[in-house]
Amino acid sequence: MKIVVIQGPNLNMLGVREQQIYGPMKLEQIHAQMKEVAAQNGVEIEFFQSNLEGEIVDKIQECYGEAHGIIINAAAYTHTSIAIRDAIAAVSIPTIEVHISNIYRREDFRQKNMIAPVCASSIIGFGPFGYHLAMMGMLQILSEIKAAQEAQAAAQKQA
Ligand code: DQA
Repeated sequence: MKIVVIQGPNLNMLGVREQQIYGPMKLEQIHAQMKEVAAQNGVEIEFFQSNLEGEIVDKIQECYGEAHGIIINAAAYTHTSIAIRDAIAAVSIPTIEVHISNIYRREDFRQKNMIAPVCASSIIGFGPFGYHLAMMGMLQILSEIKAAQEAQAAAQKQA
């Protein structure tokens, strides 16, 4: 089973950008922790960061037939991108969105979320720990998919 983690614009600046909002942790540190959890659970994990909307759409499309789960922080594109929303809907892979900050306690322009309606879940406002929660949630989703596949295979064998 494979999880792809997609990070949107300016998240490569974590640890530098607006530390009062996003904290001191760097993206590499967040990814190192996620990698550890993936290894402990026997799951493959891949990380991707881009500042470009089209590259994020391409990456989501590449997940089709490749990944079993997507964890995405679309960052500012969350509030604007119909293209990213449509890509998530198109591949139909269980997707969890993460926001480090609580976007609903921030500016008006962050209240609109184009991504959430096509995601299995949204994890918002827990700081970098949100990525760990997303991993836990995704592992649960993947184990449910695996159990359903096994049950289906067993039923087909009996028929
Ligand atoms: C963010 C929230 C967005 O509004 C913002 O544009 C980001 C980061 C978050 O993780 O809190 O870049 O997605």
